Amino acid sequence: MTEGPPDLAADLAPDLAHDFRQAMRRVASTVNVITICVGGTPMGITATAMSSISTDPPSLLVCINRTASMHGSMEDVSHFRVNVLHRDQEAVARMFADRRHQALRFSEGWTADCERPPRLVDAQASLLCRRIDHHRFGTHSIFIGQVEEVILREEVAPLVYLNGSYARAG
Ligand SMILES: Cc1cc2nc3c(=O)[nH]c(=O)nc-3n(C[C@H](O)[C@H](O)[C@H](O)COP(=O)(O)O)c2cc1C
Repeated sequence: MTEGPPDLAADLAPDLAHDFRQAMRRVASTVNVITICVGGTPMGITATAMSSISTDPPSLLVCINRTASMHGSMEDVSHFRVNVLHRDQEAVARMFADRRHQALRFSEGWTADCERPPRLVDAQASLLCRRIDHHRFGTHSIFIGQVEEVILREEVAPLVYLNGSYARAG
């Protein structure tokens, strides 16, 4: 694990921080729910910070805020899953982005067992990843996963987040 500068955000001029946020509002991102299983208990978070890294080996990265409830466990688990949301799954995205709904997050639509990271049954795509590495940087940690299993939903119609709102593509 490598450690990034811990106070990066604190060093930013207010204008630059504002401008950075405004720039990110102009980036359209597919919405995902990242899941793990910790001692039989499922955990998950809505995250747009996901990117493929390479096709050989098939690998991706996700960025998780260090204040997120699953962050500490992400550093310990062997696997995580990226559930790419379908445009009809905005309610799922909202639930996993709101701590008040934590207890209800896995009540409907998810695989029942928690031996592997939970899979949203009707997701656009599901990518089971072996956690290979992680790097702390600023407010977040970057987790690198090597993809071991892919499950696809035929229709290509992902849920997208743009300019602070959910949108539909496809
Ligand atoms: C559209 C959207 C995208 C988000 N993307 C990320 C992300 O990439 N990484 C992250 O750590 N939090 C992200 N969040 C915030 C978390 O989903 C949110 O803080 C969540 O409540 C954290 O989980 P917890 O309640 O279990 O701590 C995003 C929220 C929204 C609404």
